[in-house]
Amino acid sequence: SHDAEPFLPGTPEERADLEALRRTAADCRGCDLYRNATQTVFGEGSPGGRMLLIGEQPGDQEDRKGHPFVGPAGRVLDRALEEAGIERGDVYVTNAVKHFKFKRQEGGKRRIHEAPNAGEMRACRPWLLAELRLLDPEVVVALGATAGKALLGSSFRVTRQRGRLLPLPGLEAIGTPAAAREAGDEPPGDGGARLLATIHPSAVLRAEDREDVYQGLLDDLRIAASALR
Ligand code: URA
Ligand code: SF4
Repeated sequence: SHDAEPFLPGTPEERADLEALRRTAADCRGCDLYRNATQTVFGEGSPGGRMLLIGEQPGDQEDRKGHPFVGPAGRVLDRALEEAGIERGDVYVTNAVKHFKFKRQEGGKRRIHEAPNAGEMRACRPWLLAELRLLDPEVVVALGATAGKALLGSSFRVTRQRGRLLPLPGLEAIGTPAAAREAGDEPPGDGGARLLATIHPSAVLRAEDREDVYQGLLDDLRIAASALR
């Protein structure tokens, strides 16, 4: 199969061990993105974190440093988490795709971000599922369209689905049309993990009305925080 599955550790014990997952992910060749990127950027944060935040893919700085959300978008996210009263000990941050995808600017050195395609998202899904299984979070936050599609399939739209607590689909459904059906449109009943989608923090940096867009992100994160039991 052309995906990450053959590169995951073999035993259930290792799959339940965050550091073992991280070590093996470093050698993943489940799709072509490892060829041009510097390194695998695996998720990081509190292993006991009740909130799992999912971005798109590492950016330029994340690719160089090997850690998620350490560039400009990460600074927006850090500020919003703090302002929403979400404690670091409650947070684990990862990406839907774990290698940086980019094109080189013509004749230049700058590396321009390119969104991962559906095949790359599917290829990398075993790592995301392993993180979801291991962390068993109370709340999953999808940051932006790519993360939303990685979880709820290609029908996901940020504008339509952001800012609402949805039931987190079962792991077997993640990334498929069944996930969108499971997440549904109804407010979830009691119990069970929640999914909340919001904008990507980089949208704040691109916006003309930065402060409004930032407030929208903050409002959504406060709703996510309210779902922590
Ligand atoms: N954008 C993302 O989606 N993830 C990162 O880790 C950094 C920027
Ligand atoms: Fe493996 Fe994901 Fe990197 Fe592709 S993007 S090589 S599936 S870790």
